[in-house]
Amino acid sequence: MEEMMRYGIVGVGMMGREHVANLAHLRSEGVVLTCIADPHPPSLDLTLDLARSLGLPSPQVVEAAKQRPEILVQVGLEYRYMPPVAKLIKVVKSGTLGHVKMVAIREHRFPFLVKVNNWNRFNINSGGTLVEKCCHFFDLMRLFAGANPVRVMASGAIDVNHKDEVYDGKVPDIIDNAYVIVEFDNGSRGMLDLCMFAEGSRNEQEISVVGDIGKGEAFVPESIVRVGMRKTGRDGVTTIKPEDERIKYDGLHHGSSYLEHLNFLAAIRGQGSSGPPVNLHDGLLSVAIGVAGQLSIEKGCFVTIEEVVSMTKTKSI
Ligand SMILES: NC(=O)c1ccc[n+]([C@@H]2O[C@H](COP(=O)([O-])OP(=O)(O)OC[C@H]3O[C@@H](n4cnc5c(N)ncnc54)[C@H](O)[C@@H]3O)[C@@H](O)[C@H]2O)c1
Repeated sequence: MEEMMRYGIVGVGMMGREHVANLAHLRSEGVVLTCIADPHPPSLDLTLDLARSLGLPSPQVVEAAKQRPEILVQVGLEYRYMPPVAKLIKVVKSGTLGHVKMVAIREHRFPFLVKVNNWNRFNINSGGTLVEKCCHFFDLMRLFAGANPVRVMASGAIDVNHKDEVYDGKVPDIIDNAYVIVEFDNGSRGMLDLCMFAEGSRNEQEISVVGDIGKGEAFVPESIVRVGMRKTGRDGVTTIKPEDERIKYDGLHHGSSYLEHLNFLAAIRGQGSSGPPVNLHDGLLSVAIGVAGQLSIEKGCFVTIEEVVSMTKTKSI
């Protein structure tokens, strides 16, 4: 019999609870939640309610949480697993588009949700919008470009959202729109177009990858991928509707965190590639691009990734 895989979750707010729900749907994979930790009693209560509604043995969870606070570390860049994004990654990696030259990602969506103690309203807590929210897109840019970032130039501001909010006498300082340009070490470039007051959008994410022989696009949540070649032009563009039958729980991210868990389990059990599918280096660089973007907005000039990474090293010393 396969060994049970025991999970601990630190922080059971909105995202932590999405993981709890995913784990409930992964019971047949030999998964059990043994520990949760959170200093905010309402988060614990909501999680226990959720666990009960999903039939998870939540009294045992609390007991286990007290006794064995073990933690599993995983970088949660689950946008890679959204079916249309995963399909586009496959198309790009197959070489169909040739050498990738440009990656444009547009996220046009609703404003930031309200979070526990409103931590996400201030750069000091989250690192800023380009770090907290956009690390996913910078991770995807790296994947599509097949390269590492060199420098970042960004322009952004808080123009519409949160201006009438006040917390302990302070008005939020997080940006709600930005353009970010990322240059990679193989000569390719990425561009993020972020707008968080764009509820009137059909899609939340529109991704375009252009190589020297073709172009691929992915649309979320329409879940559509389009692929076309320069040779065959507009008439040759094909539309694919990718689906993943393995998904048993859609959650808030179109089933991607469910697939992320499946991949993680496979990696732990030695059934996948070596190590977690998204490793700490991937996580570090996705965040470093976000930090460089935030700094670039402040300074009004390009910021190198080297500068950001060396700042981190200096701080940790
Ligand atoms: N991967 C994604 O797509 C995605 C989506 C949403 C949020 N997130 C990330 O997930 C994290 C949590 O976001 P959320 O939406 O769940 O926020 P949230 O405010 O809903 O929940 C955060 C929880 O963490 C708890 N917490 C704070 N400090 C803690 C500590 N020291 N030990 C244990 N628990 C602690 C809080 O009490 C709260 O219950 C953030 O880093 C956010 O950027 C990721």
